[in-house]
Amino acid sequence: MYEGKNSFMKDMIEIQDLYKTFDRVQVLNGLNLHVREGETKVVIGRSGAGKSVLLKSIIGILRPESGSIKINGVDVTQLSDRDFDAVRRNIGLVFQGGALFDSLNVGENVGFVLDEFSKMPAVEKRQRVAHALSLVGMSGIEEMMPSQLSGGMRKRVSLARVLCMEPKIILYDEPTSEVDPITSDAIQRLIIEMRDRLKVTSIVVMHDMNAAYKIADSIAMFYHGQVIADGTPEEIRNSRHPVVRQFISGDAVGPITEDESMKFGHVK
Ligand SMILES: Nc1ncnc2c1ncn2[C@@H]1O[C@H](COP(=O)(O)OP(=O)(O)O)[C@@H](O)[C@H]1O
Ligand SMILES: [Mg+2]
Repeated sequence: MYEGKNSFMKDMIEIQDLYKTFDRVQVLNGLNLHVREGETKVVIGRSGAGKSVLLKSIIGILRPESGSIKINGVDVTQLSDRDFDAVRRNIGLVFQGGALFDSLNVGENVGFVLDEFSKMPAVEKRQRVAHALSLVGMSGIEEMMPSQLSGGMRKRVSLARVLCMEPKIILYDEPTSEVDPITSDAIQRLIIEMRDRLKVTSIVVMHDMNAAYKIADSIAMFYHGQVIADGTPEEIRNSRHPVVRQFISGDAVGPITEDESMKFGHVK
């Protein structure tokens, strides 16, 4: 099992024996995952493996049936919705599509999250928005409308929205899917930069193994609702686990079958 480059560092996210079922399909099946403070953990696994369900459980959009999710030592599964809000402030989730409001300009899109949690003076809000945009290399575009932005710019703006909250944890759900290779590279650099400059702890869900090797401190593979491998990029690259080997080489022949998504899950 992966002990981390800096095994003296504490866990920022500690998930133990997590179960989540939908319509009798067990999506998370006793999942364990540890993410150390300041680390970037990449999560890989096929579509439907439960990666988004995990991220949504960490941020409290979904509630697991059993198991614990400790964030900085606090088990959030035991918190009321109201108490969860305080924890949620420290966690940013970057959605797959970016999810910008088309009728709001960039500044409003980035800044509205600040109203959600606090009544911040307008001047301070503007400064926070400007700072967040500068962090993603998009200074001075507050007045632009989402329709004027390229796909890559939209991704950056949605990251700026998360950074506005100055989160300790950032969860990225497939940040490089459906973007061109140059934008993908730019996003990868941003994720690395957020770790190095802001010391955030991150979980990044992605399929692109080249990107994963580049940005990850460690990589965890999901399969049948559990983590079947967790290690440094080097360890994963050299894994002998047949399922891991098949996934990282993108081979149609192996233990993972083509109709996996149909029969995936354990019907109770
Ligand atoms: N809100 C929901 N209601 C019912 N089923 C869901 C819900 N969210 C996810 N699922 C199911 O859980 C499984 C895992 O989904 P998801 O975590 O989105 O997979 P992925 O690993 O591709 O992100 C899928 O079979 C999906 O259909
Ligand atoms: Mg998903």
